[in-house]
Amino acid sequence: YMSKTHNPVPDLVNEQITAAVASLRKGNVIAFPTETVYGLGADISHPQAIQKIFDIKGRPPDHPLIVHFAKSAELEFWAENIPTTALMLAKHFWPGPLTLVLPKSRHIPLSVTGGQDTVGLRVPSHPVALRLLEELGGYKAIAAPSANRFGFVSPTSADHVKKEFGDRIDIILDGGSCEVGLESTIVSCIDNEVAILRPGGISVLSIENVLKQKIFVRSHGNSIRAPGSLTSHYATTTPLEICHGESLFLRSSILLQQGIRTAVIVRSVREDFVQDANNKLHCVFMPNDPVRFGRDLYATLRRLDNENFQQILVEAPPDNLEWLAVADRLNRASYSFYK
Ligand code: TXA
Ligand code: MG
Repeated sequence: YMSKTHNPVPDLVNEQITAAVASLRKGNVIAFPTETVYGLGADISHPQAIQKIFDIKGRPPDHPLIVHFAKSAELEFWAENIPTTALMLAKHFWPGPLTLVLPKSRHIPLSVTGGQDTVGLRVPSHPVALRLLEELGGYKAIAAPSANRFGFVSPTSADHVKKEFGDRIDIILDGGSCEVGLESTIVSCIDNEVAILRPGGISVLSIENVLKQKIFVRSHGNSIRAPGSLTSHYATTTPLEICHGESLFLRSSILLQQGIRTAVIVRSVREDFVQDANNKLHCVFMPNDPVRFGRDLYATLRRLDNENFQQILVEAPPDNLEWLAVADRLNRASYSFYK
């Protein structure tokens, strides 16, 4: 992830941002775009607005929310005991798809952190998100989980949010499709230990380059209550199965024989697969590049989920650090299949 450009916000959206800020100040919940996924936002100084987020998402109350703000310089206001590593990461990657988990300051209510004394903090780079936060004002912040029902696929367009929550939220700011398409990378910087809790928009390698040290990836089965760390998450309603390239053809022929309506997401095996599939399989070709694959993944999953398939088969991603975030989401989405 490289871009830190600030595209101008169209006039119409600017007007809607003003309305969204008024709504936030009244204690309402709104939806807004970020460069990763769309968020369901509430002003953290309104306890009943925070409560609404948990209600709308159907999210357990002990699962912490990420707190978003506009100015990196406010980091010291929202967190305490900030190690140099965190300052370096903030300086390098904010605004952008990085969330830092740090000891919370007294300005962060416990309802936002699910009762924990740490908080996830992020300065997003999407121009609409930044404009919204700036207009809300200094030393104000928006708690925002991804704008989807708890456990399901995150939204990467305003339309996704509208389909899911259109009747429950008045304002959905439209900032187009999300440039990153996968959630932020969550890095915990507590007690001099740096660990990745969720791989995402910023690669592990680029974090290691900035800190000049190897980083521990602890995204599975940790003790911290992170919903993204539950084994099943980011899930489609249609069962999803991951299949290695070589067995993909065999597996899809079996499903075909069994009369199971199957959609196959393919990344590398192409010509022979299409030929043999004999038009009986529904194949979706995704880019064989981790960044572009990640950008398109949720929209593709949502589309297939709405198309009356009984099974989604995905070609397994390569087993390397570049594909880590994609592999993490696919593994969790497939969990319900193996359960
Ligand atoms: O890209 C993103 O991060 C998006 C956009 C909207 O900013 N937000 C997002 O929020 O993905 P959500 O709630 O869907 O996922 C937030 C993740 C959860 O796994 C949560 O548990 C973890 O962040 N998290 C938040 N605060 C934490 C904390 N204090 N300690 C450990 N994990 C935390
Ligand atoms: Mg989420």
